[in-house]
Amino acid sequence: MFEKLKQIEMEALTSLGQVVSNEDLEKWRIGNLSRNSAIMTIFSQMGSLSKEDRPLFGQQANIVKQTLEQAFAEKREKIKNEELERSLASEVLDVTLPGRPVRKGSYHPATISLRKILRILADMGFQTYTSPDVETDEINFQALNFPPHHPAREMQDSIYIEAEGREENPLLLRTHTSPGQIHAMRKFSSKDPLNPPSLRIALPGMCYRYEQITARSEVQFYQVEGIAVGKNITYGDLKGTLADFARRMFGESARVRFRAAYFPFTEPSAEMDVECFVCGGKGCPVCKNSGWLEILGSGMVHPVVMQNGGYDPEVYSGFAFGMGPQRQTMLLHKMNDIRYFWGNDIRFLEQF
Ligand code: DAH
Repeated sequence: MFEKLKQIEMEALTSLGQVVSNEDLEKWRIGNLSRNSAIMTIFSQMGSLSKEDRPLFGQQANIVKQTLEQAFAEKREKIKNEELERSLASEVLDVTLPGRPVRKGSYHPATISLRKILRILADMGFQTYTSPDVETDEINFQALNFPPHHPAREMQDSIYIEAEGREENPLLLRTHTSPGQIHAMRKFSSKDPLNPPSLRIALPGMCYRYEQITARSEVQFYQVEGIAVGKNITYGDLKGTLADFARRMFGESARVRFRAAYFPFTEPSAEMDVECFVCGGKGCPVCKNSGWLEILGSGMVHPVVMQNGGYDPEVYSGFAFGMGPQRQTMLLHKMNDIRYFWGNDIRFLEQF
């Protein structure tokens, strides 16, 4: 029996030495310390010992039991510490690591250009209004002096919206921001039909054309329209205002020139060029060696358009202009492809 006790202790301690996990440790406890374990059952066998041996054996068996219990407790502690160390090691936190920068968004280049143009026009007294993207043929064309079969309609291939009963005056996506002129004039002239107030209005917005998408043309693009109406507004006001705009937009030294042009809604009409800011007017690929860059269309509001807006052309006059903010961005940054604007390539957008 005494031999057996020694053997139980040895075997239990040896197998405990191999335990590395909590799971194994629990198995070991059930095998070596539970009610059916060798050390516990040996107490019930004490009856087979002589009376003199019994106290000594009981004492020794108790010591073995306590030894195993203590070894168990120490092992449990050891495993716990090891686990803690392992989990700490896996969650190391280096507080000296620099933080990850927060990615900030920025304005789209077309928006930057729009905002700059509107800011300049606002400083010059032009209030910003918006007009609808979906227009009627009447406002987009007819009121602007494009009769139904006028050849100038060819300049603006349109995207029509099918709608029953609208054959006479179909809906379309506006092909330019000029119909905003009619909306603005009608809004102001209706305030006092006998003596309509003068106006200075800027109209930004998306325009749509049924166009093949190429490096130079998109199906949708921004325009900013401007219109000034009042008594005694002259062509000199148009030139002065637009030349001043160019200086504010492209720099104090920006030189401009006006070239005669044709638009149905203005008479006379002119396109304004700014001296090429890439080559300074000497000639380069951006200005196609002409030294000048076309920036906008303009003209004196046609009497028919004045009338359609509710202003008496005998009493009132006005000038109007329309420009493409994206085109100006392209010229300023020597961009050679308009498709970058709606391509959503972050490498392009990040540069602005
Ligand atoms: N609407 C013209 C276009 O899209 C641009 C334009 C030209 C607007 C002359 C004007 C203007 O207001 O006076 O091509």
